[in-house]
Amino acid sequence: MNLKSMYSKSTATMKSSLIRELVASTKGIKGLISFAGGFPSPQTFPVQDLAEIFNEVIDSDGCDILQYGASEGDNFLKTEIKKWEKKDYLADDEILIVDGATNGIYYFTQTLINPGDVILCEGPSFLDTLVAFEAAGAEVVPVSMDDEGINMAELDEVIAKLKAENKTIKFIYTIPDFQNPTGVTMSLQRRHDLIKTAIKHSILLLEDDPYSQLRYKGENIKSLYAIAREDYQNSQVVTAVKSFSKILGPGLRVAYVLADKELIQPMISWLQKVIVSPNCVAERAVAKYMRDDKLNPHIEKIQKFYAPYMEAMLNALEKYMPKEVKWPEIEGGIFIWLTCPEHINTDELFEKAKEMKISFIPGSKFYPTNHERFNSLRLNFSYPSIEQIDAGVKALGDLLKSMI
Ligand SMILES: Cc1ncc(COP(=O)(O)O)c(C=O)c1O
Repeated sequence: MNLKSMYSKSTATMKSSLIRELVASTKGIKGLISFAGGFPSPQTFPVQDLAEIFNEVIDSDGCDILQYGASEGDNFLKTEIKKWEKKDYLADDEILIVDGATNGIYYFTQTLINPGDVILCEGPSFLDTLVAFEAAGAEVVPVSMDDEGINMAELDEVIAKLKAENKTIKFIYTIPDFQNPTGVTMSLQRRHDLIKTAIKHSILLLEDDPYSQLRYKGENIKSLYAIAREDYQNSQVVTAVKSFSKILGPGLRVAYVLADKELIQPMISWLQKVIVSPNCVAERAVAKYMRDDKLNPHIEKIQKFYAPYMEAMLNALEKYMPKEVKWPEIEGGIFIWLTCPEHINTDELFEKAKEMKISFIPGSKFYPTNHERFNSLRLNFSYPSIEQIDAGVKALGDLLKSMI
């Protein structure tokens, strides 16, 4: 049998994550300085505390927790999330616990997208999600960004154009805090503007938030979800997906969705088709970690851990990059985005840098199909050491100077 000829259309045309392929292409290079990854530092994982808590969970709740669990997630964890979020207006049926943000985004997409529907996103944006949107049959259209987030004038134009073409725009996918890949945080004013535009056009907002807790300076900015609920009394327009991956460890696969119950309900139906039961053990362990008041002190610890890495990156960029290369001001997260002059192709730069044992992700990998741009790149600063950041940015700066 030719199994490949039996694939469904969406499987046959599904794009793989080019980022993983690129990272694999540099695997095994001895002495490589990698700015390519997106992994949190394993040194930030609360290994000892989680070991004790997992033990306790199995010991005290074993018979209950090793059984199939309620699809919508552990009530114990929901209670802790409501306390931690300080949102006493949240009802249990407005929360869905999921196996990582990716899982929640999948149910949201399945709930809303018919083939041909449009999803708008920031350009550039997180590739894995864009690929998943395309696999669901969506047309994904990027809107450019500036230092305050998505460009509102362009967003208005794009919406008007797509409406004139009779396209259905279902939602706008946004990563407002320390965006992947740019590191940009959306300003408060921009958040209000975006919500007003979304309400005006009856377009939903999907707020993907894996990074807001990784703030090393400056003030927290209210989430889109909180602004919509508290300032506009609107529970429908924003769905937020919040993940513990970058705080406690992505291997836990615990995240949650905050949304209107009319969206949570069909998302639960999708969850039942895909995983039947949630990961009860990991959910209860995270709940007990929160109950024991360990989460906020841990977040403070990882903020202190990462801050010097961001400072090292910003200092090295200032010191070594040619003046033609630009980057945004950032206050947290694990990425920064460099924009080079138009004639620099960073796919080519990637190959040259690889010969010098430096890797990064070329900017073209962060755009939906047919919208690629080639003069930018993403640097990660949570994986290399501080010495490697200095040496790697110096080498990259020298290479760029020679090309400019
Ligand atoms: C913007 C964004 N969303 C979602 C994810 C995936 O999160 P999770 O591990 O919770 O699926 C990542 C991980 O890198 C990310 O950068």
